[in-house]
Amino acid sequence: MGSHSSSGIQDTLPLAAHTSTTCTCKSHIFIDSEMATNVKMPLDLPNPGPLTEAQKALVKSTVPILEKQGPEITRRFYKAMLSANPDLKNTFNNSKQQQGGQAEALARAVYGYAAHIDDPTPILPYVERITHKHASLNIHPSQYKIVGHHLLSAITEVVGPSVFQGALYDAWYAAYWELARLFIGLEEKLYEGAEWVGWREFVVRERKEETEDVCSFYLVPKDGGVLPGYKPGQYISVQRYIPELGFNQSRQYSLSDAPNTNHFRISVRRDHSPIPGTLSNNLHSTLHTGDTIQVAFPFGEFFLSSSSSTCPSSTTSTSSGVHSLASHALNNETTSLLTLHPSPSQVKRAIFYSDIQGAVQGQDYDFAGRMDLSKLGDEVLRVGDESAEYYVCGPERFMDDIGKSLRGRGVDVTRIHSEMFSAAANPISGN
Ligand SMILES: Cc1cc2nc3c(=O)[nH]c(=O)nc-3n(C[C@H](O)[C@H](O)[C@H](O)COP(=O)(O)OP(=O)(O)OC[C@H]3O[C@@H](n4cnc5c(N)ncnc54)[C@H](O)[C@@H]3O)c2cc1C
Ligand code: HEM
Repeated sequence: MGSHSSSGIQDTLPLAAHTSTTCTCKSHIFIDSEMATNVKMPLDLPNPGPLTEAQKALVKSTVPILEKQGPEITRRFYKAMLSANPDLKNTFNNSKQQQGGQAEALARAVYGYAAHIDDPTPILPYVERITHKHASLNIHPSQYKIVGHHLLSAITEVVGPSVFQGALYDAWYAAYWELARLFIGLEEKLYEGAEWVGWREFVVRERKEETEDVCSFYLVPKDGGVLPGYKPGQYISVQRYIPELGFNQSRQYSLSDAPNTNHFRISVRRDHSPIPGTLSNNLHSTLHTGDTIQVAFPFGEFFLSSSSSTCPSSTTSTSSGVHSLASHALNNETTSLLTLHPSPSQVKRAIFYSDIQGAVQGQDYDFAGRMDLSKLGDEVLRVGDESAEYYVCGPERFMDDIGKSLRGRGVDVTRIHSEMFSAAANPISGN
C-alpha cells in the first residue's frame, strides 16, 4: 500500500527483541485503569520462540487446507469466543459478525502471515494497518490469549482433533504467537505515542447537517484538555451504547477538519441500507449538541506526507482544510479530486458531485456524477510529475477504479496510496 508511516514497523522485527515492559511516555492520560495495566507488554504471554524450519514448512503446507475451511473455522471461532467472553461484544463490530465477512479477516490474516512466514516483508503494510485499527479499538495484549485459544480450538474442531495435533498443532500455535507478538509490539509502540489510551469522554460542541445524509459533529474533550495534533487522513474510533443491541459498538471516522487542537470533527454518512447501519444511524438520530460520546486517540497510517503534491481523493480533508464537504464522498455520491501544491493558497480542486442540490458549479463542484478521471487532463492530474502522489480513499471498488484509471494513464503503482473503509477481502495475504 505504500502509505506513510510513523511506527517503524521494520524496527519491530525480530519479535524476540521486543521486550519492553514499561511505558516511558509520562504524558499519557490513562482513561481506563485496566487498560493502563494491560498496555505494558505482559510477561505471561506465550512465547514459543521462532519457528523452526520444519514448523515453517508444516504451517505453509497446511495453509491451503485451512483456507478452504476458513468460513466454518471463523464462524465457530467467533461464536465460541463471544459466548465465553460476552464483554467482547462491545469490542467487535456486530454487523460484520452477522454478515460473516469480517469473521474471516482474522483467520485469513493468520493464514496470510503463515504463507509469508519466510519473509513477511510484503505483508507488513497490512500488518501495520491492522495494528492501527486495533490501537484505535484499544485492543490489549491479554486479549490475544483469548483470540489465540479460540482460533486454535476452532481449527482443531473443524479439521479434526486427530489431525490437528502434535507437531502440526505446535507449529500453528507458534505461528499464531509470532504474529500476535508482532502485533502486540507494534500496538504497544502506538499506545506509547498516544496521549491517552482507552476511551475518553467528549462532548458534542456542535452538529452540522452537511446534506440530508451527512452530518458533521464537532467534538471537544469533556475534561477541557487540549487535543493532540493529528495528521490529515487519520481517524478516530467512537463508541456508543446501542440500546437495540444491549452493548456498545465502535466505528472509525476520518477526522474531516484541518488539524487543530480545539476539536475533532467527524462527518458521518447515514447508512440507509435495507438493514440500516448501526452506529451511523444512532449518531444521526440521537447524538445532539451537549451529548457525550467516547472517543479514542487518533490513529491511522494513511496520511499525506508534507511533501505530497497531488491528492485525488474521495474523502479525506487536507492540511489546508479547504474541503469541508470531504466526507460526502463516502458512497461515491460526491467525490473530489484535490490538486494540492505545497502552499495552501495554491489549492485547486475539481469536485465530482452527484447530489448537486444547493451546490454551485465552479464553487462547490466542477463535474456532476461519479468521479471520472478521463475528464481531467494530464496536467491537472500531474501524471507526468514523478513527485506527485495520489491518495485514494473510499469504498474498495471506488479505489480499484481510480487505481486502474491512474495506472492506465502511466502513473506508477508506488505513487498511488489507498485506504479502505472496510476490511479488505484479503487484507494480509497481499493478493
Ligand atoms: C479508517 C476508516 C475511516 C472511516 N471514515 C468514515 C467517515 O469519515 N465517514 C463515514 O461516514 N464513515 C467512515 N467510515 C465508515 C464507518 O466506520 C462505518 O463503517 C459506517 O459509518 C457504517 O457503520 P454503521 O454502524 O452505520 O453500519 P454497520 O452496522 O457497521 O453496517 C454496515 C453495513 O452492513 C450491513 N449489515 C448490517 N447488519 C447486517 C446483516 N445482519 N446482514 C447483512 N448486512 C448487514 C448494513 O446494511 C450496512 O450497510 C470509515 C471507516 C474506516 C475503516
Ligand atoms: C494475531 C491475532 C489477530 C489477527 C491476525 C487479527 C487480524 C485482524 C484483521 C485482519 C482485521 C481487519 C482489519 C481491517 O478492518 O482493515 C482485524 C480487525 C479487528 N480486530 Fe483483530 N486480529 C488479531 C487479534 C485481535 C484481538 C486480540 C482482538 C481483540 C479481542 C481483535 C479485535 C479486532 C477488532 C475489534 C477489529 C475491527 C473489526 C471488528 O470490529 O470486528 N483482534 N483484526
